[in-house]
Amino acid sequence: MDTAEALKRAAGIAACEVVSSGMKVGLGTGSTVAFTVIELGRRIAEEGLEIIGVPTSIATEKLAQEVGIPLAELGELAGLDVVIDGADEFNPEFQLIKGGGGALLREKIVAQSAAAMVVVADGSKEVKKLGAFPLPIEIIPFSWSETTRQIKTVLSEHGCGGEISLRRRPELGDAVLDGIDFPVAKGGGVFVTDNGNVILDCHTGATISDPVALERALLNCAGVAQVGLFNNMCDAIYLAAESGVRILKKPDGRLA
Ligand code: 5RP
Repeated sequence: MDTAEALKRAAGIAACEVVSSGMKVGLGTGSTVAFTVIELGRRIAEEGLEIIGVPTSIATEKLAQEVGIPLAELGELAGLDVVIDGADEFNPEFQLIKGGGGALLREKIVAQSAAAMVVVADGSKEVKKLGAFPLPIEIIPFSWSETTRQIKTVLSEHGCGGEISLRRRPELGDAVLDGIDFPVAKGGGVFVTDNGNVILDCHTGATISDPVALERALLNCAGVAQVGLFNNMCDAIYLAAESGVRILKKPDGRLA
């Protein structure tokens, strides 16, 4: 296991301390929180931990089943105690960019149902200003090029320029929407989310000064299913470094 992987593992496992028997737990998506899911499975098998998990993607559902975590639909439960998830970026205000793995819509639905949100990350995710990681926006395929135009306008009104690329299947790389004629309908190499939508990656650079206003404005575009800005949701970050895992708690957060 290389250093980056070891840090993900350390953060993913450390965050499991917030989980105890009887809890309903949202299970995030990505390579860091995968270690959380595996560790929760180990505790169920070896320590008798009793939890119910709600996965945020088909990939996480599959992993959770493999490691023996009992699962339920969100609608069967009256809210969750906690969700543990990864992030692509976080800023000093605990605002996040998520969606690098394409699961942002389900991740946000699950996070909104949780009494607290814990993020697992390493130092590469910590930024002063959001946006160096391209902001993922999940949009419905219908009239997607018009939605893309609207998003471009909203971004520029908020001082965020840059290219917008349609996410393709990882092995094919990004398609830059210069002519906005990319043949989504023909499918082929386009990345399709668990919800049958597509994702735009907005290469704004680190220019997102007001994530709350930007999220609100983007959600105002009818074709936008969800925006990868997670504002005022994250309560604590398990941040792994070679010196160990630090717990950053949001001062006015639900775990403070
Ligand atoms: C998936 C996500 C992931 O949590 C995010 O991309 C971080 O993933 P990783 O831990 O693999 O870096 O938002 O939609």
